[in-house]
Amino acid sequence: MEIIKVRNYEEMSERAGEMVIDTIKQLNQPVLGLATGSTPEGLYQYLIEKHKNREVSFKHVTTFNLDEYVGLEKDDINSYNYYMNEKLFKHLDIPREQTHLPDGNALDLNEEASEYEARIKNAGNIDLQILGLGLNGHIGFNEPGTPFTSRTHIVQLDESTRQANARFFISIDEVPTQAITAGIETIMESKQIIMLVSGENKAEALARLVNGEVNENFPASILQKHDNVKIIADEAACKLI
Ligand code: GLP
Repeated sequence: MEIIKVRNYEEMSERAGEMVIDTIKQLNQPVLGLATGSTPEGLYQYLIEKHKNREVSFKHVTTFNLDEYVGLEKDDINSYNYYMNEKLFKHLDIPREQTHLPDGNALDLNEEASEYEARIKNAGNIDLQILGLGLNGHIGFNEPGTPFTSRTHIVQLDESTRQANARFFISIDEVPTQAITAGIETIMESKQIIMLVSGENKAEALARLVNGEVNENFPASILQKHDNVKIIADEAACKLI
């Protein structure tokens, strides 16, 4: 694991943006794994800016998002589908059919999970996966206790995760109780992983990720076993390492 310490959120977003653009320029058919949450928003703004300045095109890029809530309509303002369209896709020249999110409204969610897995495989797996870090160590929506051998699956969200994400909803009651997420093994098959960590409230989680033991009770700890992980973290997040 390589830890890249940066001063602040802006610098974290820029560094990650440069790496994403390098990958897009190097590969003929790059496959990006994308995350939601507050952390990657600055990265997405950076990519939009570079695209608007005609420095990069996304026409040949394919994307797969990590996760989606179960039970929200695609155009619900809290769905990750809506988030991705608003915060990234609609500002780029990426053909919409090359962007993928799990369908949290599929009639048969288990079937959707295995099809999503197959779509990633057919695309040749993820070249570059962007990850955020949950306060309880979750990656995607893989909560503590998720087997390291998991593939895309349906999860019951931890109460702490629902509370952490309640800030986006009118009230905690509106936060879905389930989600569909790429599994730990799915994430680990990515050729390269960039994890973004910002803010003092993530310091404890980051310290446990970097120095703690590899344990299913702290899902992100598995990243210690991946041979191409870069963690870009700001000063506040690095307080305990
Ligand atoms: C969310 C998402 C994750 C995200 C994490 C951190 O629940 N499912 O993909 O990385 O929690 O979110 P944030 O960046 O808002 O702190």
